[in-house]
Amino acid sequence: MISGEIPLWLVDGDDRIAFVNDAAVRILGYDSDEELLGRLSHDTVHWKHRDGSPYPAEDCPITHATRRGEAIRMERDWWVRKDGSMVPISIHCVQMEIDGRMGTAMTFHDLTASVQAEDERRRHEIARARLVEVSASRARISAAADETRKRIERDLHDGIQQSLVSLALELRAALAAVPPQLNELEGELLRIGEGLTSALEGVREIAHGIHPAILSEGGLEPALRVLARRSAVPVDLDLRAVRRLPAPIEVAAYYVVSEALTNAAKHAQASVVNVELDTHDGILQLAISDDGIGGADAAQGSGMVGLSDRIEAVGGTFTVSSPPGDGTHIQVEIPLATEVDAPRRGNTRLA
Ligand SMILES: Nc1ncnc2c1ncn2[C@@H]1O[C@H](COP(=O)(O)OP(=O)(O)OP(=O)(O)O)[C@@H](O)[C@H]1O
Ligand SMILES: [Mg+2]
Repeated sequence: MISGEIPLWLVDGDDRIAFVNDAAVRILGYDSDEELLGRLSHDTVHWKHRDGSPYPAEDCPITHATRRGEAIRMERDWWVRKDGSMVPISIHCVQMEIDGRMGTAMTFHDLTASVQAEDERRRHEIARARLVEVSASRARISAAADETRKRIERDLHDGIQQSLVSLALELRAALAAVPPQLNELEGELLRIGEGLTSALEGVREIAHGIHPAILSEGGLEPALRVLARRSAVPVDLDLRAVRRLPAPIEVAAYYVVSEALTNAAKHAQASVVNVELDTHDGILQLAISDDGIGGADAAQGSGMVGLSDRIEAVGGTFTVSSPPGDGTHIQVEIPLATEVDAPRRGNTRLA
């Protein structure tokens, strides 16, 4: 029949407890069945809802089913223990003749473990959803900042740079019109022209630092070559299978190289920096190593922390190893899940 392990509960036609087995006594926190026998079933174990509000017997589907002599099954219900705490259970009730009248036999199962697992799973899902939202907002912030930089670069290029260029042209025309006897004026104008050229160079440099146009136009390969050419420390560039990638990934990789080269020049006392970039199996891999003094510590500045944020915003990983005396080595991996379709360059080594 019913094993002693399965909680069993018999209720007579007046809703009074006629029998409980040990398993049921245990789950409900009583010491013996004597504490329960003869008491009103609903009023003893079902008198309140989970939120603590009263649960009148006339609202109880079990009581109604018992009165009508119908079977009922409830996948999830909450019963009240002796100490007032609640226990989640599933219940199966069938009609049964008790002392010559119709009553109910109930078996039930303690659902505490599965309810806890469910709560745990729900907490987990909420935490994961929050994490996804945080990385999405990080990526949005990063993308918005990149857009702003791009716009400023364009404004500088189309605005100030163009005005300086036309001023330089006008100056050249004016110079051509200077009569030969006004030597001094000619010299003065030439000096102004040089000043203009260097101002123009300065604006170009700044625009490049803000958002290199060459990055949006030509992608990582030409942009990294420009960085390498401008670097104060010699750069050995090894670019493989580099093709056009989604803008946020190109920008992130570009700024890692840019900051790493600046750091190498500022802090490393290095003689060379190796920059390797490869894309394969849907992953961009970037490795930057200098042969300098090592000992880099992200906590000492904002550059490396910014890089790590930037890379995490595109779903990648950023790792630095910098043992004192053994150079600084930066490893970046970015999944190219959202890769744009563009022609592959093959495995050409572009040093
Ligand atoms: N390539 C390197 N070799 C040796 N030390 C380094 C190297 N890169 C960084 N460091 C050390 O780690 C610190 C942190 O670098 P980080 O780029 O975060 O800041 P920073 O360059 O000092 O300032 P900024 O915020 O302008 O980048 C530096 O102050 C420097 O001491
Ligand atoms: Mg720095």
